[in-house]
Amino acid sequence: MDALDILIIPGSARAGSLNRRLAAFAARSASDAGLRVRELDLRALKLPLYDGDLEASSGVPEGAHELAQAIRESDGLLFVTPEYNGFPTPLVVNAFDWLSRIAATPSRPAGLAVTANKPVGLLSASPGPGGALRSMNFMRQYLQMAFAMLVVPQQFALARAHEAFDEAGGLQDAKAARSVQTVLASLAALAQALKTAAR
Ligand SMILES: Cc1cc2nc3c(=O)[nH]c(=O)nc-3n(C[C@H](O)[C@H](O)[C@H](O)COP(=O)(O)O)c2cc1C
Repeated sequence: MDALDILIIPGSARAGSLNRRLAAFAARSASDAGLRVRELDLRALKLPLYDGDLEASSGVPEGAHELAQAIRESDGLLFVTPEYNGFPTPLVVNAFDWLSRIAATPSRPAGLAVTANKPVGLLSASPGPGGALRSMNFMRQYLQMAFAMLVVPQQFALARAHEAFDEAGGLQDAKAARSVQTVLASLAALAQALKTAAR
């Protein structure tokens, strides 16, 4: 059986990001479970803030097409997002707003066609006690309602994330590590079922 391709998207790109650390831990767990992973740096897409005038004059930026292509090539996505004032970060929302503006051409599907029925898992991390749980609840609604994605029911919020990692980047709490693995396992199971059904 071919390995599944999982695209991991951290919602923060800053150096020292706790969510990038959790994404790195999830990537290692996914590799250990036999999944093929690619981590996408949303900042590297160099997307300007969405602006209708810019779109009218220059079209959808290349970075949004890169994002669409990466999603197209994956069997499932894993978001690892902080929350800013209870909401997913502008880095994620802006990238997906641009993605939604890609229209279909004879050689390329629309942005919204690329996301439709794509399995998604959600993780979040914060130094606070809630672990950015609220961002995942918005992400679930946003990705399902606007992008027709299939978000698996399991999710995990890493609270007090600044104290959660050991020096090797592992999670000190075995229960937290298992929760990450549970999200990955549900994502992989759904992705595998859809891949098998599409054959
Ligand atoms: C604008 C802003 C708003 C924030 N709002 C929240 C919040 O609502 N809940 C929370 O737990 N942390 C909040 N934080 C703190 C972030 O969780 C913290 O900066 C975290 O480290 C960001 O994720 P990162 O380390 O992956 O970059 C906020 C931070 C910023 C910059």
